[in-house]
Amino acid sequence: MQLFDVYPLNDITIQMARGSYVWDDKGEKYLDFYGGHAVISIGHTHPHYVKRIEDQLHKVGFYSNSVHIPMQVELAEKLGKVSGKENYQLFLCNSGAEANENALKLASFYNGRKKIIAFKRSFHGRTSLAVAVTDNPNIIAPVNQSDNVTFLPFNDEEALEATFKQGEIAAVIIEGIQGVGGIHVAGDAFLQKIRSLCDEHDSVFIADSVQCGYGRTGKFYAHDHSGVQADIYSMAKGMGNGFPVGAISIARKIQPKHFMLGTTFGGNHLACAASLAVLEVMEQEDLLNNATRVGDYILKELQQMHNIREVRGRGLMIGIELPESSKDIKKNLLFRHRIFTGEAKPNVIRLLPALNITMTEADILLQALKTELAK
Ligand SMILES: Cc1ncc(COP(=O)(O)O)c(C=O)c1O
Repeated sequence: MQLFDVYPLNDITIQMARGSYVWDDKGEKYLDFYGGHAVISIGHTHPHYVKRIEDQLHKVGFYSNSVHIPMQVELAEKLGKVSGKENYQLFLCNSGAEANENALKLASFYNGRKKIIAFKRSFHGRTSLAVAVTDNPNIIAPVNQSDNVTFLPFNDEEALEATFKQGEIAAVIIEGIQGVGGIHVAGDAFLQKIRSLCDEHDSVFIADSVQCGYGRTGKFYAHDHSGVQADIYSMAKGMGNGFPVGAISIARKIQPKHFMLGTTFGGNHLACAASLAVLEVMEQEDLLNNATRVGDYILKELQQMHNIREVRGRGLMIGIELPESSKDIKKNLLFRHRIFTGEAKPNVIRLLPALNITMTEADILLQALKTELAK
């Protein structure tokens, strides 16, 4: 059998990973400013993370959601505390798309409506509802097309108000910082407007925090920078530091009913062990503050560089928009300087490193970028 060829690959095979470095099968060492697509939050193979998963594996790896899993309660308490949302409820699943799928479904269960507001350049995943609210026709199969979704321009308060006036809005779904769309930050006033319109119309505010959450921007959720409380936060990526786990954090006004949501694997023992290890390390190593400190430094340094069109982002979620003439820089960073970065079209380099990246590692990236931009 062959692999179903859907991923354009770099010709690299990673064999080992530690902290913010990975090594290929030829022994070459790379600095990881991509974090395997914003997934590596506490660094590769962090010793506490490895030990917690390993210890758990010797006890019980999996049992279904038909019995008590006390680690789920422990995780809910810990996540509530670290994220500052103690009064919310936790539903555990396995990926970002699944988290958004459940969030949208829950919104519709809550107010009995169907219409959803999403935004231009959004990305929310590839399952049926998640992809229907994703602004990319190339990945929406005919069966996923939905008349229930309205895509509005990002940060456009007037368009938002006008659409709410048409009535029947079940939910608004928005990334605090658009990731795949090229690192665009949602304005404070815009998020506050979404909050007040959702309150006025009893619609559900869904904060997609799959990429921009889990401390990446220096606050637990990127939406926190604007002082708003969403009704549902979806998360995944950094939550398990590579172990597949996703979740939604749900405000109290949305009440659960048995069988309303469900999953076989969600919240399994190993996923809980991985997620608890991540939160423990985040606390012990003060990673939110490190994300702010190193992120602010990188942003400031980038803003002073020449030959960059625009620098956007917050904390360790940074987009560097380059002119068309610099389109090879990402490739050169990887193959000449051995630094992984992410990309977003058109011509945006995305920085999504682990939250414990150091100033020294930041300087290595900045120096490599300077060299490339000077060419
Ligand atoms: C903002 C956002 N939402 C949802 C997803 C989907 O997550 P997953 O690939 O885990 O399904 C992604 C993935 O990149 C994302 O960036």
